[in-house]
Amino acid sequence: MANTILIGAQWGDEGKGKIIDVLTEQADVVVRTQGGNNAGHTVFIGARKYVLHLVPSGVLRRRKVCVIGNGVVVDPIGLVGEIDGLRKLGVKVDDNLFISETAHLVFPYHRELDSQREILKGKNKIGTTKRGIGPAYGDKAARTGLRMIDLINPPRFESLLRQKIRENNEILKAFGATPLSFKEVHSDYRAAGDRLKPFVANTVVLLHNAMRQRKDILFEGAQGTFLDIDHGTYPFVTSSNTTAGGACTGSGVPPHRMDRVVGVMKAYTTRVGEGPLPTESAEIADMLHAMGREFGATTGRPRRCGWFDAVATRHATMVNGIDELAVTNVDGLDSLATIKVCVAYRIGTARYDYVPNDVEAMARCQPVYVEFPGWRTPTNKVRRWKDLPSKTRAYLKAIAELTGARLAIASVGPAREQTIFL
Ligand code: IMP
Repeated sequence: MANTILIGAQWGDEGKGKIIDVLTEQADVVVRTQGGNNAGHTVFIGARKYVLHLVPSGVLRRRKVCVIGNGVVVDPIGLVGEIDGLRKLGVKVDDNLFISETAHLVFPYHRELDSQREILKGKNKIGTTKRGIGPAYGDKAARTGLRMIDLINPPRFESLLRQKIRENNEILKAFGATPLSFKEVHSDYRAAGDRLKPFVANTVVLLHNAMRQRKDILFEGAQGTFLDIDHGTYPFVTSSNTTAGGACTGSGVPPHRMDRVVGVMKAYTTRVGEGPLPTESAEIADMLHAMGREFGATTGRPRRCGWFDAVATRHATMVNGIDELAVTNVDGLDSLATIKVCVAYRIGTARYDYVPNDVEAMARCQPVYVEFPGWRTPTNKVRRWKDLPSKTRAYLKAIAELTGARLAIASVGPAREQTIFL
């Protein structure tokens, strides 16, 4: 399989968890390289549902090494809770998990600031997951963040945290929010630090050793292309590089060691949080929500839904260098008589074949649709490409062609076996 970067080609929630799980079978090492516990990767194995936030999904398969890379922001309390939860479900988490020494930490003041800034923004809010992700990356960029390596060094951690709590309490007071107790945060974090210490490692060296031993690495992207801090619909984005380049900076594996990029996209479009979504449609949202689908894995929020947006996915192919596509949730469209696909945007008389950078312009974009006949047959039991209805195949081929990459996987349900390889 070689080294594979897997990314979301839309606004996150593309069903990456399942595709990662499927591809992990051929990988030796699975690495998270950006984001934090704002992510929620859902994997179904048999009747069991696993929701992972920070731990790479590779943990669900035996003999896979899982790495939380330097580009991730780690909430230590959240991570300890996640590890305990996985162990309770019988998942082995010990010498198969490594956390980068240089991964930055998320603190309660980050979460509080995240909430306070959203309140202050009012109707212009981003709709964040309130996990403190933006403020934690903010500290990292400002060079005032604390890292895993600090957490496991008690004297240094105490002095750095004392300073940070003092500074952030002033900010919280200015917002009218309750200041934090150093003592409480310190004791909770030190306890989590003791629990996490055995996992902390120099993951750059570890990954390069793995490559020397010709191991195959899967880089597990979180969120999606249009939530990228540089390439997304700024400011309605997350605070990390969710695009393929983030896999290199977030792990220490250089670009020329990457062999392929797999882009995951839904057969339609969804988004959680605020920001433009040109193909948003009440018709498709009502249908999917009535089926019990499209509720966020991290916050439970109903996702906004729309038709497939090929302008956006074409852009995603460009910025990520997507070689292969995995299209998920194909079965979500099974009942429709007609399926729309957006092939261009229009603002007034101007036609756009690309995603405008100005978020206000993007919000004014009207989709130009082409229509495809629906197949109106359940696809969730199909296991081979040739057994899919011909209209499903035509639709999938068309969206892959419009996106500009090779269709490699079609997923017709959440289970591992509901996966069609081309
Ligand atoms: P934050 O990452 O919590 O700061 O949220 C910023 C934006 O990214 C919001 O619109 C969130 O809904 C969105 N977001 C963050 N993580 C995910 C995810 O894992 N899936 C989908 N959307 C996400």
